[in-house]
Amino acid sequence: MSAPEHKSAGGPLASILALPNDDPKKTLFVAIAVCLVCSVVVAAAAIGLRPLQAANQERDRIRNIVEVAGVGKPGQSAAEAFRENVEPILIRLSDGSQSDALDPATFDIAKVSKDPALSRAMPKADDHAGIKRQPHFMPVYVVRTESGGIKTLILPVHGAGLWSTLYGFLALEGDLRTVGGLKFYQHAETPGLGGEVDNLNWRAIWNGKIAFDDTGRPGIQLVKGGVDHSVAGNESRIDGLAGATLTSRGVEKLINFWLGEAGYGPLIERLRSGRS
Ligand SMILES: Cc1cc2nc3c(=O)[nH]c(=O)nc-3n(C[C@H](O)[C@H](O)[C@H](O)COP(=O)(O)O)c2cc1C
Repeated sequence: MSAPEHKSAGGPLASILALPNDDPKKTLFVAIAVCLVCSVVVAAAAIGLRPLQAANQERDRIRNIVEVAGVGKPGQSAAEAFRENVEPILIRLSDGSQSDALDPATFDIAKVSKDPALSRAMPKADDHAGIKRQPHFMPVYVVRTESGGIKTLILPVHGAGLWSTLYGFLALEGDLRTVGGLKFYQHAETPGLGGEVDNLNWRAIWNGKIAFDDTGRPGIQLVKGGVDHSVAGNESRIDGLAGATLTSRGVEKLINFWLGEAGYGPLIERLRSGRS
């Protein structure tokens, strides 16, 4: 006579847990259970932290705009300096006109670039910045003079370096020709090589440079080997980054692209001619 089959009173879970620890079925069960619990925790954390991440990104964006705009008083937070001095405006790139199609405060370049309704695929021949897709709209940021004119125009710029897309802000002074500052806030170029785009001394070279040539075309040049800034004719020339000619070339191309006809050219033209 065979032995009566042992049945656990607690159902299948209890019967698996009652197995010896070195039983393969129990090992597999515990491994799957741990994976499930961990994935639920990670997913919950990712979803739960999303608003915090968005708030941090927004804070970072504001801090960078305030820095490149050169506004704010000692002791003042970036958020206050932004609120007091900076006017965000959404513009339609094709003609530089103001638009309320999207909220400039929550504008996400990468996300908008992926949306076929809000962006266009760049024809290869025109894609000098290597961005592949370009939003139809972009937020720009204006610091006004006391009389309501433009003191500084801050333009978001982005484009391909060697390893990554560089995202930054270029400030133009009120004449809409002179560079007031440049800051890249996101990239993955090599520290010490292309990553020197963050170097304060290199960034300082940009201040006061003339972004357009005599014909009005974007004319920034990054020169390998360096530039004698005291020599006339070098007003639009910036020292190339040592050992990082490819990133330098990317920066030159992306700046000239965004200042050109396919970028903020129509906006700059509109502002120069006094149309709003
Ligand atoms: C590991 C590694 C990382 C590099 N990172 C960069 C970079 O971030 N940007 C860049 O332009 N060149 C980078 N380079 C160098 C390029 O391959 C290329 O040699 C350089 O851009 C040429 O610049 P140069 O003519 O000023 O030397 C890197 C090279 C190596 C081996």
